[in-house]
Amino acid sequence: MADAALPRIAVLASGRGSNLQALIDAIAGGDLAARIVGVFSDRAEAPALARARAAGIAAEALSPRAFAERDAFDSALFARIDARQPDLIVCAGYLRLLGAHVVAARSARTINVHPSLLPAFKGLRTHARALAEGATEHGASVHFVTPDLDGGPVIAQARVPVLPGDDAATLAARVLAREHPLLVETVRACLSGRIALREDRVHLDDAPLAAPLQLTANNRFAS
Ligand code: GRF
Repeated sequence: MADAALPRIAVLASGRGSNLQALIDAIAGGDLAARIVGVFSDRAEAPALARARAAGIAAEALSPRAFAERDAFDSALFARIDARQPDLIVCAGYLRLLGAHVVAARSARTINVHPSLLPAFKGLRTHARALAEGATEHGASVHFVTPDLDGGPVIAQARVPVLPGDDAATLAARVLAREHPLLVETVRACLSGRIALREDRVHLDDAPLAAPLQLTANNRFAS
């Protein structure tokens, strides 16, 4: 497909950027028919920006400190994102809260990857908290972004076992290995038009989804 005809993705990332890299690699490998039209960060030193530039993707950082108020920062950031005309906005390790005024108008085309089986363990330090609570299963979720932090409708999940002897680092690594294919598969499903957000519910092929899609061992969704 000619580049101009490909669906357009914008990515927001604050740090390491391994989820961004998974998208870059899936596109380069012919596994995801899309184009990343911009990577945006609140941190100029984020390795995610370097990953984007290495792949020839436009990358921009905007410092929250340059703005007196959070809303003004969000508005400026989303003006830049909107200028790229993305079909889908992917928050991949973006560590700032997004204001309701920028999120509400874009919920149906903004998704976030979160390292827990939502609604369990919203927020930070999910792996340590799962261990502290004695969870036997953990994982990652991709959800539509709403003003409710990590609370938007969940599209899909990948599950991993919690194993004896796990610490937060070993558990995080096991989750991350599944998070990457989960994000790629969810982006593919969203761009195909099969997934939609309507009346605050995830729809698959025009029917409300009763439970999040589950990533199988072959990195596709169970049908
Ligand atoms: C991931 O675990 C993601 O789920 C969470 O932050 C982490 C970002 O990792 N929101 P990376 O920057 O994509 O490597």
